[in-house]
Amino acid sequence: MQDYELAPRLTQEELESLVDALALRINQDYEGKSLILIGILKGAFIFLADLARRITLPVEVDFVRLTSYGKSDVTSGVVRITKDIEMPIEGQHVLIVEDIVDTGITLAWYLERLKARGPESVRVCALIDKYDKRQVEVPLDYVGIRTESGFLVGYGLDFAEKHRNLRGIYEVQFLKSR
Ligand code: PRP
Repeated sequence: MQDYELAPRLTQEELESLVDALALRINQDYEGKSLILIGILKGAFIFLADLARRITLPVEVDFVRLTSYGKSDVTSGVVRITKDIEMPIEGQHVLIVEDIVDTGITLAWYLERLKARGPESVRVCALIDKYDKRQVEVPLDYVGIRTESGFLVGYGLDFAEKHRNLRGIYEVQFLKSR
């Protein structure tokens, strides 16, 4: 039996407004330039799809699959690339698209590796900045919402691979101690 419930945190409409606002800023900041969007799989796949369709600049899209949590809800602290980007980024403006930044370990680790490939610039767009458990400082250039706590699912985010397909974002509320 499922030992948790899902409490609504962000509706589909609220997410649309957040993504609209982020895309507006990105379109203004990169005016006259082209951009490579790098989505961090799996969590960012829906956010990137919505963001990319609101960007009016010339964009290319690629994905990297990073994992440190596996099926656990606690980071292992060890980040692995299980699928790398496939396009060269040297001399290009890169925008990393991430669904959620929690400890910061995943993003900090990847930023270092990406910068070593010689892009013209690298910025980060994160839908959710969950800052209370931050262990590594990472620069977040574009943030949808900042939030303290809660295990969030939906709109690409999972709990043991489930709930990524929900249109809104929900908080997992456990019904008994785990
Ligand atoms: C999630 C999320 C981020 C990372 C953030 O990915 O998509 O990439 O955790 O956590 P951190 O700031 O504590 O490092 P996860 O490893 O769960 O894989 P997923 O995207 O496939 O769900």
